[in-house]
Amino acid sequence: MSIMKPILLSGVKATGEPHIGNYFGAIKQFVDMQGEYDTYVFIPDLHSLTSVKDRQTLEDNIFETMLTYLAAGLDPKKVTLFKQSDVPQVTELMWIFNCLTTMPYLMRAHAFKDAEAKNKEINVGIFDYPVLMAADILLPNADVVPVGKDQEQHVEIARDIAEKFNRTYGDTFKLPKAIIKEGVSVVPGTDGQKMSKSYGNVISLFASDEEIEKLVITIPTDSTPVDAPKDPDTNNIFNIHKLLLDEAGVAELRKKYTTPGMSYRDAKQMLITDLKAFIAPFRERRDYWVKNRSKVLKILQKGGKKMNKLAEKRMQDIRKKIGVSLY
Ligand code: ADP
Ligand code: TRP
Repeated sequence: MSIMKPILLSGVKATGEPHIGNYFGAIKQFVDMQGEYDTYVFIPDLHSLTSVKDRQTLEDNIFETMLTYLAAGLDPKKVTLFKQSDVPQVTELMWIFNCLTTMPYLMRAHAFKDAEAKNKEINVGIFDYPVLMAADILLPNADVVPVGKDQEQHVEIARDIAEKFNRTYGDTFKLPKAIIKEGVSVVPGTDGQKMSKSYGNVISLFASDEEIEKLVITIPTDSTPVDAPKDPDTNNIFNIHKLLLDEAGVAELRKKYTTPGMSYRDAKQMLITDLKAFIAPFRERRDYWVKNRSKVLKILQKGGKKMNKLAEKRMQDIRKKIGVSLY
């Protein structure tokens, strides 16, 4: 008899080319956990609609996100890969949740508060974003949701909504748990701030060797002389480099920084070498899937069908519980 594995669900709302911050902050966790859990990784294309208003751009984003998942090492034999819009039951569940969630509660969400503080135009979709995310998580009854630090609050909102539904209509949803990897919760960019497309400080997960060289050279350094020891913990070259190394590798690199004689030029050269070796396999896997577009689409469609079936079964129970299913 097979023992049921706990359910993992996650996804990243990718816009444009992914960077190593997206990888270490979120995607790597799905890859590392895929064997241990019943794993579902999806493309939140309906969430993207809050900002993307161009058909071609959205289609490209969907395909690009699939390439990223596959290039990052998600194995379609182990993981159900799908896109949100293939499971419209999720928007039905969102409506049910909308009617249980209050406006003041959602007004406390960081993403909404940020948008408001920046005087951005806020559509209802942006306001309701966390409720759609709760539906994504609760519909398949996910146990764990590996996410980047910035998504932690959204998973808490999903828990609150699950509790409220369970109190109102009877026990239905498991309470999901966010998994946030220690130590990589915020990956620094080439300027030391959080790596983010909006800061223009990213290292692409598919960067070419030339791009890697150019980017690393631009990392600002202080004026500590070559023959003085350097503090690795406050050094941005080190903080990016350590992501690529195992524990022993980090210890060895740390020693190089604290021993007089290493120049920042040397430090950058070491980072360039390791980044090139790290990124090459991602680029190669991406190239393979780009050449096999129809295979990629088949995987996506198959996952969508599977998920849709599962979602419909769950919704039948939920519709009964709320009182809209009479036959
Ligand atoms: P960007 O800030 O570049 O626009 P996104 O918001 O598209 O990045 O990121 C998608 C996901 O990748 C986020 O939800 C987050 O979990 C993760 N992520 C992004 N940047 C970082 C970072 N610098 N460190 C850790 N995780 C990150
Ligand atoms: N909000 C997430 C991001 O910006 C994407 C997302 C949507 C998600 N629904 C989800 C992540 C459900 C985990 C679980 O990346």
